Amino acid sequence: MTSDLSSGAKPKIAIRGGGIIGLSIAFELMTRGVTPTVLDRGDLKSKASWAAAGMLSARFEALIEPLFSEDLHALSARSIRLWPRFAARLQKQSDISLSFSEGPTLALLSEGSLSQLRADRRLEGVDVEDSAERLSALVPSLKSDDKRFVVFPDDGQVDNRAVLKALQQVCRPLFTDEESKVEDAEIIIECLGWRANDVRPVKGQMVSLKPRERHPLIPVRWGASYIVPKPDRTIIGATVEPDETGLETDDEQIAAMLNAAINVCPALADQMEILERWSGLRPMARDQRPMIGWTEVGRVFQATGHYRNGILLAPATAERVADAVLAPI
Ligand code: GLY
Repeated sequence: MTSDLSSGAKPKIAIRGGGIIGLSIAFELMTRGVTPTVLDRGDLKSKASWAAAGMLSARFEALIEPLFSEDLHALSARSIRLWPRFAARLQKQSDISLSFSEGPTLALLSEGSLSQLRADRRLEGVDVEDSAERLSALVPSLKSDDKRFVVFPDDGQVDNRAVLKALQQVCRPLFTDEESKVEDAEIIIECLGWRANDVRPVKGQMVSLKPRERHPLIPVRWGASYIVPKPDRTIIGATVEPDETGLETDDEQIAAMLNAAINVCPALADQMEILERWSGLRPMARDQRPMIGWTEVGRVFQATGHYRNGILLAPATAERVADAVLAPI
């Protein structure tokens, strides 16, 4: 370190990577009176957080991911608590609407999974619906086949692209493309997504439709699939393709996702207009847990490996990183 951080002086901090994790950390540091430098080109479309669907779905993700561990639960629970204030502050400072919603999300589960989850007491605080009737205002077109409907009241969503734009706007004065500014810093925070060491890319392909009247008003989820309505697009996702780095989309996979979604929500087929097809690369660490901590290189801290939950975990990650790097020595 080039200066004495124990004196209470503000450390010189640089962040490598301007996706949602890097920029949320920058935003948090700024609110604590520290002005970091962010090494990033400032493009939007290369970011996993641009490609995402913006679900803040701590409860459902924990059910579908067997490796969702206790510490990940704790980080998710903290992040869900932080999101309303994080969204309000960011929206106010950027003047960009984030379409933040605290919930609910509708999940479709098989009778077998439902019984198992009940037996494991993993559905406490969750509403199991007996019929589609009560849901029709939120999801007007819904076909159950043999699935049961389960409402997760605290699984919400936000417009991830709006969040990224808002963070970029607020953090714009911090951006640099000069590597030397990073090397000059006393503390370097690496937020490199799937490019970080010990992290694998897991490609997800997605498609969006022009919103129509009978599209769902809340996220609808089954297995790794989902329909997520945004003000200007209805998102359908996503494939899970480990170690794929090509960003092209595949006609057959997109058609299969669309058909599966139409099978759940038949109104998606009405006047269907595809707006966009795209893919992103989720950063997955070996044990599927985010890697947040000091590295072996003394002044380098890392925050990556958020896999399917980068949007959800951004505020709690930013808080944890800021606490760690600003802690008195
Ligand atoms: N969080 C949803 C996904 O990764 O597809």
